[in-house]
Amino acid sequence: MWEVKDVIKRASDLPSMPDVAFEVIRVADQAESSASTVAATLSRDPSLSARVLRLANSAFYGMARDVHSIQEAVVVLGMRTTKSLSLVAASFPWLNVALKGKGLSPKQLWSHCLTSATLSKKLSHHLSCADAEQAFCISLLHDMGTVALYLTLEDEYKSVVELAHFDQRAFDVLERENFGFDHAELGAALAESWNLPKSYCQSIRYHHRPSDIEGYDRLTDIIHVADMLVRENGISEGLASVTFGRDEQAFARLGIDEDMLQALAEAALQEVKESGFDTFSEAA
Ligand SMILES: [Fe+2]
Ligand SMILES: [Fe+2]
Repeated sequence: MWEVKDVIKRASDLPSMPDVAFEVIRVADQAESSASTVAATLSRDPSLSARVLRLANSAFYGMARDVHSIQEAVVVLGMRTTKSLSLVAASFPWLNVALKGKGLSPKQLWSHCLTSATLSKKLSHHLSCADAEQAFCISLLHDMGTVALYLTLEDEYKSVVELAHFDQRAFDVLERENFGFDHAELGAALAESWNLPKSYCQSIRYHHRPSDIEGYDRLTDIIHVADMLVRENGISEGLASVTFGRDEQAFARLGIDEDMLQALAEAALQEVKESGFDTFSEAA
């Protein structure tokens, strides 16, 4: 059995993708760009967004309050600071560089996260939730525990993926049986180690079992529902034969009928496809 803290320790020095950071620099330099354009650009990169939020919330910036989304960070810190923050964050490259040569496709995982994030935002708007931007950001980061597992325990992780060919139980159950924790718990621990706000840690931790949260957390329900719908529409993390179960209570709590859910999912898939952001440069 492994301990979450040991995996976090091993994942802490891993490299990141600077592509979006450089685009943020360019976009922020254009006179016609608004703070929301800068935020939208930065939000396309999950690890960089996480790093920028971590930096924005660190003692170094001495913020009087927590910054909960990239949108907020750009408004509060200003475009200039966000630019430099992005550059700082990009100097610790993480996703595509790190996964090069590994058995997990960065492109598939990226597409899964970006589409889930887009759908989470649509669900939030549909439900008139005020924090649609936050739902987008958390959703973008929800499976980073999977990346960390691949980077630190690739062979062991592949064996558990193999097990899923014969054992049809939900994959997070198999992860917990074999590692002592699942990718959601690891992702939450990683989010904590990056000083991300508590809402991020909670939603990431419970994204496969939102009903385990005491009381009601709409944000986590949204992240879960978006994740499941995106998988059901064929955009998975890229792990063959792996299944995850729907938390039907979370679906019921949102109270959106299946036809509308499917329509929103299709709209999200379409939006991502049209944006071209799902194509991921291996060379970045
Ligand atoms: Fe997940
Ligand atoms: Fe997922």
